[in-house]
Amino acid sequence: MKYYLVTGGAGFIGSRYIQMLFDEMGDDVFVINVDKLTYAANLSRTAAFSERENYEFVYGDIRDERNMEVLFEQYPVDVVVNFAAESHVDRSIAAAGDFMNTNVLGTHVLLDCAKRLAPKARFVQISTDEVYGAVKKRPFRESDRLLPSNPYAASKASGDLLALSFFRTFGMDVIVTRSANNFGESQHEEKLLPKLTKCAFLRCEMPIYGTGAETRDWIAVEDNCRAIRLAEQYGRSGQIYNISDDHPLSNLESARRIARIVGKQTGEQGLARLIKFVPDRLGHDFRYALDTSKIQNLGYKPTTEAQFEKRFKQAILGLLERFRTEESLPKVKMPSKEDIFDLLVEERYERIRKEIEENK
Ligand SMILES: NC(=O)c1ccc[n+]([C@@H]2O[C@H](COP(=O)([O-])OP(=O)(O)OC[C@H]3O[C@@H](n4cnc5c(N)ncnc54)[C@H](O)[C@@H]3O)[C@@H](O)[C@H]2O)c1
Repeated sequence: MKYYLVTGGAGFIGSRYIQMLFDEMGDDVFVINVDKLTYAANLSRTAAFSERENYEFVYGDIRDERNMEVLFEQYPVDVVVNFAAESHVDRSIAAAGDFMNTNVLGTHVLLDCAKRLAPKARFVQISTDEVYGAVKKRPFRESDRLLPSNPYAASKASGDLLALSFFRTFGMDVIVTRSANNFGESQHEEKLLPKLTKCAFLRCEMPIYGTGAETRDWIAVEDNCRAIRLAEQYGRSGQIYNISDDHPLSNLESARRIARIVGKQTGEQGLARLIKFVPDRLGHDFRYALDTSKIQNLGYKPTTEAQFEKRFKQAILGLLERFRTEESLPKVKMPSKEDIFDLLVEERYERIRKEIEENK
């Protein structure tokens, strides 16, 4: 039995990763998902596996040292995958405090607990291409210097550097992955593709920053998870792995594609008329691009253009369906802190103790 401590697993990418772990390992894995359930979380993303015997959801904050210690004491953690983060650039420009707290301090608490209580565990820090800043000439390599442009990217760069320092100073088994922009049907609607899809669906203005020429590299969430999994399993300790499929689209092109897909589906052509240029984002990076030879050396095969087109279309259709049926989505019930504490200390402890005993 392998024990995974996944943080931020009620988020967009973390929930997909947990699903992948269960798909691959079935009953031979035990996953503890720690999530603070911020506005970005949604437990409907975990509904497919939430009833499994080998899954535990823990409502908790990665900054809460005592809570994290209890988890590391209770479970013989083999792998930590740290997805938990404040992840929306625009929010970090409006107010960066939570980004520093979770993405920097939270990462430190987690690293420190792992160092003390699970020193042999592999620690996978999930990061972003945004830490490099805007690309100028060639795609960024992992060894390139970091030049983040916005507070979100700066907080993620800090988390990466902290994680790598724990490798160098304490010999911890650390891996960092830096991926391009993800897309998928369960993404929060504040992010670009869901936002544009919802606007097209509702026939309201589709806002695009500046001239729309800014270009992002896109990767389907399942492909990012596939690559993270390779890095997690076969990556070399202390290494960074860029993850991208090299499918760049300008923001304007993304909006036009979405307008076409939604229009075809709803039978209303010409939705691109809804595109509206709005004042540019502060510190807006023009373009990101990654050299992905390292992850490819671990066996990652980027999607072809045709596969990408298919995944992109599927994601937009999935989002469309979600917005159509949104009203019928189950409402998430927040567990009370007392319930969770009780559960943590008694039930889980007892169960895990028995399991370890049986596995001996
Ligand atoms: N979405 C992308 O395109 C993208 C691209 C590259 C890298 N990343 C990185 O991948 C990771 C996951 O991104 P996402 O899109 O799934 O984000 P998300 O915003 O959808 O999910 C983040 C999750 O973390 C949880 N969380 C936040 N603060 C927490 C805390 N203090 N303690 C415990 N849980 C907390 C939230 O409740 C949420 O469930 C992030 O680290 C992000 O920086 C995302």
